Amino acid sequence: MKALISKAASALVTVGFTVAVSLTAQAATSDEAIAARIAPVGKVCLQGDASCGTASAASSGGTRSGADVVAAACNACHGTGVLGAPKNGSGDWAARADKGIDTLLKNAINGINAMPPRGTCADCSDDEIKAAIEHMISL
Ligand code: HEC
Repeated sequence: MKALISKAASALVTVGFTVAVSLTAQAATSDEAIAARIAPVGKVCLQGDASCGTASAASSGGTRSGADVVAAACNACHGTGVLGAPKNGSGDWAARADKGIDTLLKNAINGINAMPPRGTCADCSDDEIKAAIEHMISL
């Protein structure tokens, strides 16, 4: 009886060990897979940092153009008129433009109805938002 118990115990230890080893191997693989899946889509480069490459160094810092802001943030809704947003290049902006740039800027910064504050560009300066509005009106 005693021999049987010890045999069973050692079999259990062996099974446990095998399971532990295979779990560890699997964990390593899926950790890498997870790391790849959750890798950041972009990185912030400080101006002059050679590792960022010339393109990102040139676009980091400084003021973004109206066209850049529109492409990055505003077009998500204003490109196609989502949620009733005035659609770029459709003439929708003409009526809005009559309000004057100061009112449009104030409403864009604070948000109005389905238009979110700063059009989701939280790090846009007031000047960048203004340039984006002027760009959309001109389309
Ligand atoms: C999530 C969708 C969405 C995004 C992104 C968005 N807008 Fe809008 N925007 C709207 C909607 C919807 C309206 C219409 C609001 C209304 O008058 O009911 C609007 C209206 C406006 C108006 C007119 C406000 C007025 O007083 O008539 C301005 C100006 C504006 N957006 C600027 C911007 C700018 C600049 C950006 C990018 C930085 C931007 N929007 C991004 C949805 C969006």
